[in-house]
Amino acid sequence: MSMPCVPFKVFGTFARNPNHAMRFFIDTANLDQIREAQDLGVLDGVTTNPSLMAKEGIHGEARVKQHYIDICNITSGDVSAEVISTDFAGMVKEGEALAALHPQIVVKVPMIKDGIKAIKYFSDKGIRTNCTLVFSAGQALLAAKAGATYVSPFLGRLDDNSQDGMDLIAQIRLIYDNYFFETQILAASIRHTMHIVKCAEVGADVATCPLSAILGLLNHPLTDIGLAKFLADYASNK
Ligand code: E4P
Repeated sequence: MSMPCVPFKVFGTFARNPNHAMRFFIDTANLDQIREAQDLGVLDGVTTNPSLMAKEGIHGEARVKQHYIDICNITSGDVSAEVISTDFAGMVKEGEALAALHPQIVVKVPMIKDGIKAIKYFSDKGIRTNCTLVFSAGQALLAAKAGATYVSPFLGRLDDNSQDGMDLIAQIRLIYDNYFFETQILAASIRHTMHIVKCAEVGADVATCPLSAILGLLNHPLTDIGLAKFLADYASNK
């Protein structure tokens, strides 16, 4: 009699690779912010999108490509670079050119029909991908089936629309663990520190965050009060 394949549980959570710690990406195309996160020593990669590039005034193919290389020269982690085309042939051409720029580049592809075809094509060729604009578990399942390296559920934009984005992260975690999909959950559209903490609780592989949310993790008034007291006591004891 064949036994059903059931993922094993440890203390109520699915067991995963113990060597696989949560990673922090920064969600910006701003070089100063990327440097600041890198200097903090906790940066594992960078995500960009066309809106973030436009925000920095980076226009034109040559400048955009140079900017991706500049980002790769700051961090040693993965750098997501998004295609603009929405047809299969266009995405393949753009994605291959982006991947050729630097070994750290991950080609970011939208969750549309031709995007899934392109992700499968890139996966077969060993080009790493990040499937973006994911808002449902079904989309995440399809991205994993196509062989995406990362899937990017946009939790903040779901929250903005009265749907709990964290529920989606947990649902994708369960589905991927059920079948040992290797696609990594890259929680995106993060707005604040509690998004990061909750992502860690539900087991997102990566959180891509604004610098303010990463730095926000430092904050607690009792830390400031405690440090001030320690320093005052040290000074009074001289
Ligand atoms: C990153 O990969 C996404 O493009 C980004 O997190 C979207 O964030 P936003 O919803 O704040 O624009």
